[in-house]
Amino acid sequence: MKALVIGASAGLGRALAQQLGASGHELFLVASDQQDLLPLERDLSLRHGVTVHSAAVDLADLDPDALRHQVLEKMPDLSALFYVAGCAYNQDNGPVPAGVADRLLKVNFTSGARIINAFLDHLDAQPRGLVVGIGAVAAVRARGDNMIYAAAKRGLEFYCAALRHRYNRRPLTVQFYRVGYMLTSMLGGSETPLPAAAPEKIAAHIVAHLEEDFGMRHLPGWWFWVCLVLKLLPWTIFKRLSLEAPGR
Ligand SMILES: NC(=O)c1ccc[n+]([C@@H]2O[C@H](COP(=O)([O-])OP(=O)(O)OC[C@H]3O[C@@H](n4cnc5c(N)ncnc54)[C@H](OP(=O)(O)O)[C@@H]3O)[C@@H](O)[C@H]2O)c1
Repeated sequence: MKALVIGASAGLGRALAQQLGASGHELFLVASDQQDLLPLERDLSLRHGVTVHSAAVDLADLDPDALRHQVLEKMPDLSALFYVAGCAYNQDNGPVPAGVADRLLKVNFTSGARIINAFLDHLDAQPRGLVVGIGAVAAVRARGDNMIYAAAKRGLEFYCAALRHRYNRRPLTVQFYRVGYMLTSMLGGSETPLPAAAPEKIAAHIVAHLEEDFGMRHLPGWWFWVCLVLKLLPWTIFKRLSLEAPGR
């Protein structure tokens, strides 16, 4: 597989890049800072003998066609796209400055949709194309914390579900993960009301299930039951609930 990982410099994206590299997959890594990507690129090439490319792209200021050109020039037979990038801020529980709202929407939703859209015809033309989107359990039911973040994640989730419906008779597979708390810089050491998972564990599950057509899955799997309860809770109880999601 030849994979593009967006948001590869830290947390889950980095763990995915490491595990995909260890499995021998050629990689193209994207994050905002080349200084974070170069050591990872070198380490993966040396350790696993795989070809790794990288590019610094600010997802809040994206030209999807330029990214497509840059990636396909190095990797003309790209077959998989992982949109892992995300950002969250603690202040996202009321009015936020316009720039913060813009960044939340772009990094968590619109840049994801625009990048997937830019590569869609290429991935659809591959014998086994794959799109993997990473969302958040925060998107299961609207709450007053991480409001724009969760709305954006719901947008990405909805777009991936629409893609899966559109391409269901094609070899292109679309997978989406609603991820729970993870021990990454996004969580920033905050206490969580439910256990936080290691990103390596989440990445291992994703890499082990690349061949499957399941639509959407919760990770770790027990979040399915938590989300079900959250969805079914009557409003009178739900309105009192605070399950703060990560944010810096
Ligand atoms: N951590 C959690 O508790 C948690 C819970 C639920 C869902 N999630 C979701 O899981 C995914 C991975 O999260 P994580 O915890 O691994 O996050 P993380 O450790 O903060 O890493 C985020 C990645 O996204 C990239 N990124 C963010 N903004 C970017 C921008 N403007 N331009 C380019 N790249 C950008 C970062 O690169 P730079 O550093 O270069 O910006 C980094 O590689 C996200 O979609 C997140 O929403 C996380």
